[in-house]
Amino acid sequence: MANLLITGAGGQLGRELKYLSQYHGGHTYHFLPRDSLDITDEQAIDTQIREHDIDVVINCAAYTAVDKAEEEVALAQKINATAPGFLAKACANHQAFLIHISTDYVYHNGMDRPLVESDPCHPQSVYARTKLEGEIATRTYAAHSLILRTSWVYSTYGKNFVKTMARLGAERDQLRIVYDQVGAPTYARDLARAILQMVKDDQYRKNPGIYNFSNEGVTSWYDFALSIFTWLDLDCQVTPIRSEAYPTPAKRPAYSVLDKQLFKDTFGQSIPHWQESLWACLDEGLTAE
Ligand SMILES: NC(=O)c1ccc[n+]([C@@H]2O[C@H](COP(=O)([O-])OP(=O)(O)OC[C@H]3O[C@@H](n4cnc5c(N)ncnc54)[C@H](OP(=O)(O)O)[C@@H]3O)[C@@H](O)[C@H]2O)c1
Repeated sequence: MANLLITGAGGQLGRELKYLSQYHGGHTYHFLPRDSLDITDEQAIDTQIREHDIDVVINCAAYTAVDKAEEEVALAQKINATAPGFLAKACANHQAFLIHISTDYVYHNGMDRPLVESDPCHPQSVYARTKLEGEIATRTYAAHSLILRTSWVYSTYGKNFVKTMARLGAERDQLRIVYDQVGAPTYARDLARAILQMVKDDQYRKNPGIYNFSNEGVTSWYDFALSIFTWLDLDCQVTPIRSEAYPTPAKRPAYSVLDKQLFKDTFGQSIPHWQESLWACLDEGLTAE
């Protein structure tokens, strides 16, 4: 039984953890959204961990606006790179374990086969670079830490591709979506469940390190959008386009499929296919916020 502190509790992953916590009793959960704990406030972090005698911190807080980060460099740096260092130091000071979340974008190494944790990292956007720096800070200050690199996160909560497509697909007759970026979506509830399972089994403590986690399977944004429209029965014609026809401020990797073997072997968990999870999410219904 553990005392858990969840930062960024108002985000997609944080809210899914909160939802699932009702089925994972026995622990004490401290869900802290941004207005209760700003992770750039080093003193506040230390106080929360000490006062609540925290055993495990799950850092769901991040600056996730990938394109906006190209302009708000200092802010992205502070939240994604510096703050994980504060969390890691406080965890080390108070013998707490840190579970930190990172991104597939840290790899961006031009490889075109599923990426393993030991592959080189060549982040090519401010978001990706700051997330990699956050990983390094986490590992530097907290030996007792575990990093999960995940991709294309969506949920019934918050802002994400699935909800954007559901809205646009209902509003428009036609859409153009890139088909030359390949990866795998992650239903935040599956990631939240995987984390809570690790905590339940006490497996995380024995297995610090970096692990990839996404849903199984491979898709492109175009195919992902088509699946969303099919399942929602939306009559929207989708044209596949190349990334160069849809320029964005931040560069995205063309191939970003995560190999999950290490996670599955280490934690003995299976991971649902992305289509099954998309269906589960859509079946549940998308929230307004
Ligand atoms: N979303 C994706 O597609 C994706 C892909 C790969 C990896 N990831 C990683 O997965 C993790 C979870 O992402 P998510 O999708 O759940 O993100 P999210 O929905 O954007 O949630 C992030 C949360 O962090 C909060 N936050 C921002 N700055 C903070 C601060 N200084 N102190 C405390 N809280 C702060 C945000 O609050 P406000 O909303 O008030 O700013 C938001 O509630 C992140 O580490 C992210 O980098 C996400």
